[in-house]
Amino acid sequence: MAESITIKSPHEIEIMRQAAKIAAGARSMGRQAVKDGLTTKQIDRAVHEYIVKNGGRPSCLGYEGFPAATCVSVNDEVIHGIPGRRIVRSGDIVSLDLCATYKGFVGDCAGTYAVGEVSDEARRLIEVTRQAFFEGIRFAKAGCRIHDIGEAVQDYVESHGFSVVRDFVGHGIGRGMHEAPEVPNYRPEGRRPNPRLVKGMTICVEPMVCAGDWRIKILDDGWTVVTADHSLAAHYENTILITDGEPEILTMADDI
Ligand code: MF3
Ligand code: CO
Repeated sequence: MAESITIKSPHEIEIMRQAAKIAAGARSMGRQAVKDGLTTKQIDRAVHEYIVKNGGRPSCLGYEGFPAATCVSVNDEVIHGIPGRRIVRSGDIVSLDLCATYKGFVGDCAGTYAVGEVSDEARRLIEVTRQAFFEGIRFAKAGCRIHDIGEAVQDYVESHGFSVVRDFVGHGIGRGMHEAPEVPNYRPEGRRPNPRLVKGMTICVEPMVCAGDWRIKILDDGWTVVTADHSLAAHYENTILITDGEPEILTMADDI
């Protein structure tokens, strides 16, 4: 039996807003630390410090053994890159994915940022990935179904000549970083649960987009997900609330 989808009360939604606000602020801080010459660990530190200063806990740290607050994934790394001594350089693209827990609830967001001047392809990939999120959430409305979101993401991404990752998906969120339902960024094959969206659900919509083929592999560190063909990849994610009308993007900040 699949775990059931939690509907948040108005009080829980208020706490989710606060957790998400910390996550969004941390993403802004991390984004500002994506600079030529800095290490991925220095970027992680900026995120980590922001979360703690704002009363949150970096939920990724220790999650299934992940060793940092932030997943920092460079170029062909799609997600789950481990921060370390790697120095980012002009021309690189850097994906940051992080979560903050506040009063027992989790906010989760991600984004991909350019270091200095990057190729036209890289710039376009970042923009298409971000826009794919907005195309998807046009269907994040009470009465629509979960797969309506992924279909819109996939169609938009493929119409721009890019591909969407299949092996990882978005998810419900609340007290747990990963709750039901799964939120794929593509049309699932076969019969898969396709729940209707209901007011009070909180979910993460997170397109992971490859410039080439969508197939991935996992590096020997057991975490880092890279494109199998080593093409560039980008990621964009927000935690959103399903309402009576338009979804509320809980992790939105004006600069991202
Ligand atoms: N924030 C990620 C997500 O979008 C999960 C990070 S994995 C972790 O679901 F191990 F780093 F926590
Ligand atoms: Co997520």
